[in-house]
Amino acid sequence: ARLVVLISGSGSNLKALLDASADPGYGATVVAVGADRDGIAGLDIAAEAGVPTFVDRVKDFATRGEWDAALTAHVAEHKPDLIISAGFLKLVGAEFLAAFGDRYLNTHNALLPSFPGIHGPRDALEYGVKVTGATLFFVDAGVDTGPIVAQTVVPVLDGDTEADLTERIKEAERRQLVEQVGRLVREGWTITGRKVTIP
Ligand code: GRF
Repeated sequence: ARLVVLISGSGSNLKALLDASADPGYGATVVAVGADRDGIAGLDIAAEAGVPTFVDRVKDFATRGEWDAALTAHVAEHKPDLIISAGFLKLVGAEFLAAFGDRYLNTHNALLPSFPGIHGPRDALEYGVKVTGATLFFVDAGVDTGPIVAQTVVPVLDGDTEADLTERIKEAERRQLVEQVGRLVREGWTITGRKVTIP
C-alpha cells in the first residue's frame, strides 16, 4: 500500500513509519512526504530516506481554498491508499476531504474527545486527569472529531512537566500508529457513521 505522510515538525512519527516499512511484510511504503512549511527536521528525515517531498505553504496562495486544491493535487499525484497527518498542523479543506475523506488519518496526543486542539498534553496536565493518551482517527470536517480507529492510554505521573508528558505520549503514539497503519493496509477498513470496522 502507498502512504503519503503530511508533517509540520520533527517527523518522529514519520521516522517510525519509514523504519517499519523497511520490512516488506509491513505491507506499506511511504511514497511521499508533504509539509506546510520549509526547514523542518521531518523534511530532512524524508530526504535521507530518499522519499520525494513537497511543500505547500498557505501564505503562497491567494486563498485557503487554493492552498487546499494545491495540497489535494500534490497528494493525488502519488496515488495514496492512505494519507497520514503525523503532526500536520493545518486543517485541510472541503476539496481535500472530498478526495480523501475516508482514508485520511490523524494522530492526536490526547484521548479524544477530551483535549482536542494543539495543546493536548498541556490541557490534560492543567485539567489534572490521571490518564491521557493517543488517539488515531479518520479526519472529518471538524477539529479532532472523526471516527476513532484506536486509542492508547498513557498515565500522567506526579511531577510531570509538559515536556515529560508529551514525550511519554509520543512513544505510545508512534507504536500505535505503526501497528494500526499496518493493520489497516493489510486488512482494509470500512467507515459507517462513527464506526471504523477492520474485518
Ligand atoms: C504528535 O505528538 C502529534 O500528536 C502532535 O504533534 C506530534 C508530532 O510529532 N500533533 P512528530 O513531528 O511526528 O515528531
